[in-house]
Amino acid sequence: MITGIGLDIVEISRIRRLDTKSPKFRARVLTINEQAEYDRLTEGRKIEFLAGRFAAKEAFSKAKGTGIGSECSFQDIEVRKDAKGKPTIYFCGAEIGLVSITHSKEFAAAQVLLQTI
Ligand SMILES: CC(C)(COP(=O)(O)OP(=O)(O)OC[C@H]1O[C@@H](n2cnc3c(N)ncnc32)[C@H](O)[C@@H]1OP(=O)(O)O)[C@@H](O)C(=O)NCCC(=O)NCCS
Repeated sequence: MITGIGLDIVEISRIRRLDTKSPKFRARVLTINEQAEYDRLTEGRKIEFLAGRFAAKEAFSKAKGTGIGSECSFQDIEVRKDAKGKPTIYFCGAEIGLVSITHSKEFAAAQVLLQTI
């Protein structure tokens, strides 16, 4: 049964602005594992990766119905990829949602689906 859906789109220029303004932004949005993945990327890929993770986490918070806040922080949510690159959403360490992420030159967007069996 589908229990939640969430969709989010962000302007990459906005994420770049926030990231340039404060080094805390990236540390707030990405988990330690995601930061390690970010560090391995080429310069060009870094900002779209950060924007995509931001969109995925906001989309997840909508699917959950809480928004980002005390019940659901950016650090509670982690996107992990399988060997082929397919992402999955984890909340507090447990696999919980289906996610799809996309980016273009100007935007990153993500869709999340929550379901129970
Ligand atoms: C829920 C949240 C993700 C919405 O994102 P947003 O960028 O403000 O707005 P969006 O345009 O993407 O989405 C707005 C829609 O989200 C939906 N929405 C709002 N609260 C929601 C909730 N609790 N659950 C599900 N959907 C929600 C609404 O449908 C809203 O549209 P509407 O008001 O026209 O009905 C946002 O409130 C939030 O928690 N943001 C995190 C803020 C933050 O920490 N930002 C870091 C910047 S440094």
